Amino acid sequence: MKTRRIGDTVVSAIGLGGMPMSIEGRPDEQRSVATIHAALEAGVTLIDTADAYHLFADEVGHNESLIARALASYGGDTSDVLVATKGGHLRPGDGTWTQDGSPAYLKQACEASLKRLGVEAIGLYQFHRPDPKVPYEDSIGAIRDLLDEGKIQQAGISNASTQQIQLANEILGGRLVSVQNQFSPRFRSSEAELQLCAVLGLAFLPWSPLGGISQAAGLGTRFDAFAEVGAAHGVSPQQACLAWMLAKAPVVIPIPGSSRPETIRDSVAAADLVLSAEEFARLDAA
Ligand SMILES: NC(=O)c1ccc[n+]([C@@H]2O[C@H](COP(=O)([O-])OP(=O)(O)OC[C@H]3O[C@@H](n4cnc5c(N)ncnc54)[C@H](OP(=O)(O)O)[C@@H]3O)[C@@H](O)[C@H]2O)c1
Repeated sequence: MKTRRIGDTVVSAIGLGGMPMSIEGRPDEQRSVATIHAALEAGVTLIDTADAYHLFADEVGHNESLIARALASYGGDTSDVLVATKGGHLRPGDGTWTQDGSPAYLKQACEASLKRLGVEAIGLYQFHRPDPKVPYEDSIGAIRDLLDEGKIQQAGISNASTQQIQLANEILGGRLVSVQNQFSPRFRSSEAELQLCAVLGLAFLPWSPLGGISQAAGLGTRFDAFAEVGAAHGVSPQQACLAWMLAKAPVVIPIPGSSRPETIRDSVAAADLVLSAEEFARLDAA
């Protein structure tokens, strides 16, 4: 498995996004655990989660707990697996997503994530989404405190603009290591943030890289170029998409979501797919 870096941690070039295993349409636990184990067997050492990946109000942290159980029941060594979680989003149980970026809430959310993950310090803690009710400086100040207290080993942000990336890095005293924004053939509005991360050497984790849970299967139908480049290599349009992202910059680490062993295995193979300059240019313009 090819690797990339998040701060001082080496991780697989393709990560596993945990969200489809815990929100609407999620599979049973057995299939989820099989999916996580298939990822580990394929060499994945980055799993992205969040305390808000759950369905009902009384099961906050469903995805974190699931991942902790799957790691514990895996036969092999998992000491090099980075579980990256997030705080600042909430799901009240009615299908909506709400936010709380207040320092008090973030600190309490981090404590709860620590317990669920069963670790002394979280390997990568990401502020999930700026809260318009709370000054960004205050939310990131809480993340800085968590770093200083040793509750988290590394700090990331998500859904951030270029200005917020610069500000967060300043508040964290240069200790920001990653940015997680939406980026896919369908949503390219974070191109500027991706390029800034490349300049600053921050990991850029594209979320919903295949267009999101409901759109991922139809990627090749919606975007001919990805289907055609994939077909030329005898691989899926999804693999072509992830290979294109990896080729955009050495800081890019896609985190495709998965709820089946087959899909994560297919996605992981993108790390070894080499595109020609012409193919890259075609996909970049598609
Ligand atoms: N920071 C944020 O605000 C934010 C927001 C959304 C998501 N995220 C993170 O980003 C991750 C990825 O986003 P996402 O799950 O929303 O969307 P996605 O990765 O674009 O799509 C997920 C779907 O793609 C399918 N899939 C995966 N690999 C495939 C392949 N090789 N061939 C065909 N289908 C494939 C999976 O199907 P099966 O279910 O059938 O396996 C899965 O349901 C999430 O899991 C989460 O960790 C973060």
